[in-house]
Amino acid sequence: MRTQVGIVGGGPAGLLLSHLLHRQGIDSVIVERRSRAYVEGRIRAGVLEQGTVDLLAETGLGARMAREGLVHGGIEIAIDGARHRIDLAALTGKSVTVYGQTEVTKDLIEARLAAGGTIVYEADEVSVHGFDSDTPSIRWRTADGPQELHCDFIAGCDGFHGVCRPSVPAGRIRTYERVYPFNWLGILSQTEPVSDELIYASHDRGFALASMRSHALSRYYIQCDLDVKLDDWPDERIWDELKTRLGPEAAATIETGPSIEKSVAPLRSVVAEPMRFGRMFLAGDAAHIVPPTGAKGLNLAVADVRVLAEAFAEHFRDGSSAGIDSYSERALKRVWKAQRFSWWFSAQLHRYDGAEPFARRLQLAELDYLTGSEAASHAFAENYVGLPFG
Ligand code: APR
Ligand code: PHB
Repeated sequence: MRTQVGIVGGGPAGLLLSHLLHRQGIDSVIVERRSRAYVEGRIRAGVLEQGTVDLLAETGLGARMAREGLVHGGIEIAIDGARHRIDLAALTGKSVTVYGQTEVTKDLIEARLAAGGTIVYEADEVSVHGFDSDTPSIRWRTADGPQELHCDFIAGCDGFHGVCRPSVPAGRIRTYERVYPFNWLGILSQTEPVSDELIYASHDRGFALASMRSHALSRYYIQCDLDVKLDDWPDERIWDELKTRLGPEAAATIETGPSIEKSVAPLRSVVAEPMRFGRMFLAGDAAHIVPPTGAKGLNLAVADVRVLAEAFAEHFRDGSSAGIDSYSERALKRVWKAQRFSWWFSAQLHRYDGAEPFARRLQLAELDYLTGSEAASHAFAENYVGLPFG
């Protein structure tokens, strides 16, 4: 097999890159380890930045998002139970859209297959080769035996546990990491969301988040310990903790019900530098991980492949290497600013066991300044809705 861009990973990054390349007349093949059903079955958050929404809409992927997405002009912050709204729309003229990553992925798969795109599912033992030469290739195994895809470039869109980043010799890649001393315990429930907008809560007992998937499907999170056991968290205990941390207004109106999904997620910040190795380029979670607090994961993957698709187009269309030579630097500038925001927001909202009392007072001062200052709220809002594409 041969193509111009061989893409490892058929999640949001790989699918969107293939879609954007197709619109530029550039051929690509996606090699995905899992089955289509598995990829489409992954439940993932989806708070889409304005730039993400605009890019999807501009490239023919906006129809269902416009019908089913929930446009939010603001978010709320609950500080020890007191609610404060950040008016994103008034401060930035932009909004965010709640539209599950699962739905974005389904829309992308549908668009690629409708356009005749090639997505290889259930590819085993995927490996990448020759990315320091002019003839890179991707190999894998299917029931039909060994396969090889020859390509001009490889895009590593295979997520944090993929094969591309580990294929780079240790001396050529540097990883920056911060692990947070807590997890998020999340539940999905077929209940009406407690508020029309998201509520991020900072409470002495710990962080909580009230989100949603639709007007009838709520998504809640509470901060929990690293050694949390799901058996220790029956639904009733979770609802009680949410009522406490979200505050009295929410406690009075929240609709409780059985959880239809309950899971624990770790929080960490990771950045791998650089994001380009010869003819192999990393994009999305393959290169970086953000804590979910700022809802940046999907949006960073979109921003990476937006730059990478244009870089490939400049190469194939104009014979220019300017885009591919500057990709890593340009992508990392946005990645690190999203890391900064996600780390800062996480630092204000979570309980840090063992922290001195002074630290909690500092958190409260940060949040008091955030919610009481137009300048602080504006700075927050421009990060939350998404910084301008560089
Ligand atoms: N070979 C082929 N495919 C692989 C391999 C491999 N060795 N390893 C992983 N994959 C696939 C996964 O099955 C997945 O479908 O690569 C895809 C990576 O997708 P994501 O992990 O979703 O990463 P990305 O596309 O960058 O999207 C980032 O997804 O995980 C969330 O929070 C993250 O919202 C962010 C978004
Ligand atoms: C979610 O709805 O799952 C969600 C929303 C916002 C976040 C994280 C997760 O910051």
